[in-house]
Amino acid sequence: MKKILVVGALGQIGSELLIALREKYGADNVIATDIRFRNKEDEGDGPFEIVDCTDIRSLSEVVKKYQIDTIFHLAAILSAAAEEKPQFAWNLNMNGLYNVLEISREHKCSVFVPSSIAAFGPNTPQDFTPQDTIQRPTTIYGISKVSGELLCDYFHKRFGVDTRGVRFPGIISNKTLPGGGTTDYAVEIYYEAIKHKKYFCYLGPNTQLDMMYMPDAVKASIDLMEADPSKLKHRNAFNITAMSINPEDLANVIKKYIPTFQIQYRVDPMKQRIADSWPNSLDDSAAKEEWGWKPDYDLETMTKDMFEKLAVKLGVEL
Ligand code: SER
Repeated sequence: MKKILVVGALGQIGSELLIALREKYGADNVIATDIRFRNKEDEGDGPFEIVDCTDIRSLSEVVKKYQIDTIFHLAAILSAAAEEKPQFAWNLNMNGLYNVLEISREHKCSVFVPSSIAAFGPNTPQDFTPQDTIQRPTTIYGISKVSGELLCDYFHKRFGVDTRGVRFPGIISNKTLPGGGTTDYAVEIYYEAIKHKKYFCYLGPNTQLDMMYMPDAVKASIDLMEADPSKLKHRNAFNITAMSINPEDLANVIKKYIPTFQIQYRVDPMKQRIADSWPNSLDDSAAKEEWGWKPDYDLETMTKDMFEKLAVKLGVEL
């Protein structure tokens, strides 16, 4: 990885991955792109270009201009937002990816493409979901993710493109807020706990889902792209997870810091249906075996760090 392009650099994952990549590979070697202008303070120094990945020309120009050899493709609409506008979501999630793969083929770039727990569906085994199993998702987001996994496999087998990717669980972070995801509750709950000591959760108390703290998501993305390709049997769509939790678990750990915290449930039927169609917990042994995946944070250590960072960010003492 010498010249890296981050597509969707202002999003939840992109904004933190960008900083880590710039620290590791040098700010000038990591080109941030998004469809809107950046806030300079957030992204630090380094090149920034406006790129709409659904427009292959704008992508191609930037790849040529900076002689890019590696692309992290993070532009996507998340699950709940995608259900509100499926046509728009399909265009961005699929045609954007197709363009990135085409450009990677043409310019011999390696490419990181995130998939998701959403690539599974209601008839997937829900507990300890295997790496290779039934995938019949019922959301447009999940359909775009499983199609993306297949497309990445195809570009590797058919054209030799160095495609790699993971299936991310819900990601919890303290910097950029997620938007339009079904797992967003797990971020909102921390902010609401600090601000109001109360959270109205749109998923029921026992909704079990895999989650991960952002530093682990960033580490996974970089480690997979740095991994020895001869050891990768799966390449794309590795199951990864750090914890399998539900809203009650989160509320209980938050109460250790804010004893008066209360959680109440106002279930959103659409989001509940989406969450119920996803696994309870993933088997991430292929990622462990093939490229040494291991998360650093569990629920307790993540929560400690979240409260430390958010207290500073929100200017409160806990
Ligand atoms: N976090 C995503 C969502 O909730 C899943 O990939 O849509």
